[in-house]
Amino acid sequence: MALERALAVRLRFGRLLRAWYRAHHRDLPWRKTRDPYRILVSELMLQQTPVSRVMLRYGEFLERFPTLDALARARPARVMEAWAGLGYYARARNLHRLARTVAESGAPATLPGDAAALRSLPGVGAYTAGAVASFAFEQREALVDTNVARVVRRVFGPELDVTRGGDRRRIWEVARALLPRTGRATYVHNQALMELGALVCTARVRHCGRCPVRSVCATYEADRP
Ligand code: ADE
Repeated sequence: MALERALAVRLRFGRLLRAWYRAHHRDLPWRKTRDPYRILVSELMLQQTPVSRVMLRYGEFLERFPTLDALARARPARVMEAWAGLGYYARARNLHRLARTVAESGAPATLPGDAAALRSLPGVGAYTAGAVASFAFEQREALVDTNVARVVRRVFGPELDVTRGGDRRRIWEVARALLPRTGRATYVHNQALMELGALVCTARVRHCGRCPVRSVCATYEADRP
């Protein structure tokens, strides 16, 4: 059901979504760079920490460790210190391990550009791989985090239950089916899906009155009197 719905309106959905993003997105520091390392750091920080808190630590972390090589050379205690306030320190440990792994395999240390190779790195799951591949390398890769899963479910598959493994796989399928044709448009598309989940189609409230894609949304349609 969800996939059929998505395929039927994908072009329209994508055009509406990306036009809205261009007009309404927040000016966030990790949207001003294409440096894979800087994007990776932001995505790991944002995984379990709110944007407002990440904003307080992101710049300072990158000042201390401006490159993967600098991070690889750092002592673990310094990395933990720079991560202070963000919580879930396993992310910092994995990031440090990742930097050391990549630095061992070549100088200067560089992140791979494709999602499969990214996924093989410590602490990088499907979401992070999709984010770095699409945001830093403009690869045509999907990404699904809890925000994107919620948007995709509400728009295309209200019958899906994101706590079920099979349904989560279906949401990834839908997210892949929705991707625009080019990598460049994929960058905007993926940022836009996350921005819609953060600003409009939030976990607490659906602001359908200002939603750019309500004309193709199954949940909006079902809720109309
Ligand atoms: N959460 C995760 N990734 C994000 C991004 N690139 N921009 C805003 N919020 C995010």
